[in-house]
Amino acid sequence: MTNYLGIDIGTSAVKVLLVDNRGQVLDSHSESYGIDSPQPIWNEQNPNVWWNATVRVLKTLQARNEAAWPQVAAIGLSGQMHGAVCLDDQGQPLRPAILWNDGRAFQESATLNHLCPNIGHIAGVPAMPGFTAPKLLWLHQHEPDLFRQIHKVILPKDYVRLQLTGQYFTDVSDAAGTLWLDEAKRDWDDDILQACHLTRVQMPTLIEGNDNSGSLLENVAKELGLSSLVTVAGGAGDASAGGIGIGAINEGDAFLSLGTSGQIFVAKEQHLANPDAYIHAFAHALPNRWCHMACLLNGASPLQWFSSITSTPITTLLDEAESDYDIELSVYFLPYLTGERTPHNNPFATGSFQGVTGHTQRSDMTQAILEGIAFSFRDCLQALNQSDRPLTALGAIGGGAKSAFWLQILADVLNVPIHKYQGAETGPAMGAARLAILSHTQQDIKSVCAPPPVEAIYQPNSHRHDIYVNKHVHFSDLYQALSPTYGHTSR
Ligand code: XUL
Repeated sequence: MTNYLGIDIGTSAVKVLLVDNRGQVLDSHSESYGIDSPQPIWNEQNPNVWWNATVRVLKTLQARNEAAWPQVAAIGLSGQMHGAVCLDDQGQPLRPAILWNDGRAFQESATLNHLCPNIGHIAGVPAMPGFTAPKLLWLHQHEPDLFRQIHKVILPKDYVRLQLTGQYFTDVSDAAGTLWLDEAKRDWDDDILQACHLTRVQMPTLIEGNDNSGSLLENVAKELGLSSLVTVAGGAGDASAGGIGIGAINEGDAFLSLGTSGQIFVAKEQHLANPDAYIHAFAHALPNRWCHMACLLNGASPLQWFSSITSTPITTLLDEAESDYDIELSVYFLPYLTGERTPHNNPFATGSFQGVTGHTQRSDMTQAILEGIAFSFRDCLQALNQSDRPLTALGAIGGGAKSAFWLQILADVLNVPIHKYQGAETGPAMGAARLAILSHTQQDIKSVCAPPPVEAIYQPNSHRHDIYVNKHVHFSDLYQALSPTYGHTSR
C-alpha cells in the first residue's frame, strides 16, 4: 500500500491529511496560528510559523501512524494565495509575509492598472490590493533597501516546499494569484513583472499542480521519519485545491467555499477573462484547465470573530440562531471586517450591525451574520452571472459547510441547490493529497478527482428566496449609504 500527504498552509491553521492510494483519509491533524496586524488593514505572518507548525503536525501524524508512515510516497501542497514571501539569496525571509487580506497596496494597485492597462485580460483580473504584484510595488516604494535584496518572491505553500526540497517551484494556479502570470499561456508575463521592477529570474519555476517538483532534502526526510525518495507535487493555491478535492475540474463544475475567506469557483476548459466584474479568471491546477472565481475576503471569519468576542462556541451560536430563526428579522450585518474584494474592491470597508434594538438577542445577531455572508455570496453570484451560464448546482466546502442550517440559508438566498459532499470540510488539503497521487502514479485524472459521494442536497425554497431578494436590496443599500464613511480606519 502506498500513502500520500496533503498539506494545506491556511490562514488560520496548517492542516495535514494522510490518505491511501484511493484518496481515503487515514488520519488528519492541524495546528492553528494567528495573524499579525501591525497597522490598520495590514495582515502579516512570519513564514517560519508555517514551517514550524507543519513539522509539528507531521511529527504528530508520524507518531499516530507507525505502520502507514513509511508507506508515504509523495506530498501535495496547498496554501493561502497571493501572500508575498520575499527571500534573500540564502532563501531567508527578508520580512514577514504580506497576506491575501492585506489592504495596504491600494494606491499601487491603481498604479499597476495604469501602467499595464491590459492586465485584467492577461492576468485574469485587474490589480486589487491583496494580490502579490501591487504589494511588491508597495515594497519598492516604502522599503527600498529591502526591495534591493530580493532574490526570490514566492508564495506561502512554496516556502514550505523550499524547506522540504530546497527547490524554488510554484504551480500555475497559485502563480495566477500573483498577477504576474499570463493565464492563457501559463507563463510569467515579463511586462507586468517589469512594471513591478522585477524579472522572471526572481520568480520560482512554473509547473502544473500534478507535476513533481523534487524530493525531500536528506536532513528533512530524516527529521520527519520519511524516505528521501518522497517527492513533492506542484500542488495548488487553496481555491483550486478545493476544486480538485471536490472534483470541480470539468467545464461548469461549481462550488462555494466557506473558509476564512469565501469563494464561488467555476471550473473552465478555456481561459476567458471578464475584468469588469472583478471575476478572477485564473489557471486551474491541472493542465489545460482554468477557473472563474468571485472572492470574498470575509467568508466564515465574521462568525469566528463573533464567537471569540462573545466567548461562545460557534456550534452554540448556530444552535441558538436556528431555534430562534425568523426570516422576517430586520437586523442586518455587513461582514466587511477586513475590507472586501468582490464586488466592492474596497480595503477600507468595515463591518456593521444595523437594526439593533433593545430587544435584539445574541441569536438575532448570529442570524444577521449568517445572512450577511450569504448576501455577499449573492453579490459573487451576480458578478459571475455576467460572464457564466447560470449555475444549476453548487458544492460546498470549508468549515462553514458543516452547518446544515447555514447551507439552507445559502441555498435560499442564492436560489441554487447546494450539494454537501462527504468529507467536504477536508477542503484544500484533500486537493493537495489528490495532486500528490497524480504526480506519483499513472492514475487517470478524472478517477482520482471524482466528486465524493453526496451526503445531502439543500434545495432552495422560492418563498424564502423572494423574502431574501428584498433583504439583499436593503443589504446593498446599506453598503451604499455607509461607503462614504469608509476610507479612514481606526483600531
Ligand atoms: C483567493 C483568496 C483566498 C486566499 C486565502 O483569491 O484570496 O482563497 O487564498 O484562503
